[in-house]
Amino acid sequence: MSCRAVIFDLDGVLTDTAIYHFRAWKALADELGIAFTEHDNEQLKGVDRLGSLRWILQQGGLTLSEAEEARLMQQKNAHYLELIAHMTAADLYPGVQPLFAQLRQSGTKIGLASASKNAAFVVERLGIAAQFDYIADANQVINSKPDPEVFLLAANGLGVAPQHCIGVEDALAGIEAINRAGMKAIGIGDAKVLSGALKVYPDVAAITLTNLLKL
Ligand code: BG6
Ligand code: MG
Repeated sequence: MSCRAVIFDLDGVLTDTAIYHFRAWKALADELGIAFTEHDNEQLKGVDRLGSLRWILQQGGLTLSEAEEARLMQQKNAHYLELIAHMTAADLYPGVQPLFAQLRQSGTKIGLASASKNAAFVVERLGIAAQFDYIADANQVINSKPDPEVFLLAANGLGVAPQHCIGVEDALAGIEAINRAGMKAIGIGDAKVLSGALKVYPDVAAITLTNLLKL
């Protein structure tokens, strides 16, 4: 396969925002009297905002109106934005800059495919916004991961056919999205969990251009 583009997920791949999502959801769950632990938060990786809220409400046996759901999502997001406002380039995972440099040098395009509506803000805080040839996020798609839409949108924006793209993801739903998009999937995390990936690395720092080209 000739790899012409690598499309990265954001949360959990390029930086660790899970802790901030957790704190913001936890505050909301406490207010609603619903138990929510860091272990529960694992279930929400890669899951969009509404899907995450509904998962938590279900734990408490609650079904709310759309208007009430919208109010709670707004409340959680305002808290989340406060927490991530303090992020800086120091929050970028080690290995991201060297990998981006290798990709750029080889003429390989760099894309983002994120389930977050805050993706543009986060990459700005991390100081890497200008390094992406195309950014696709939850504001532009209807169907969230595991649907392939956000990865296909990124490939289209990059002008590269899916079969020449590699996707990098830490969530099971994301790996499924990459596979359904007809791209090659690389997992970040535990190989037992991310069984749908062609190759799994513990973190981005373990990925090199050489091992991408061997896929
Ligand atoms: C994903 C995260 O990237 O974005 C999820 O893994 C999060 O935990 C989702 O719920 C949506 O994020 P946001 O910023 O749009 O609320
Ligand atoms: Mg992720």
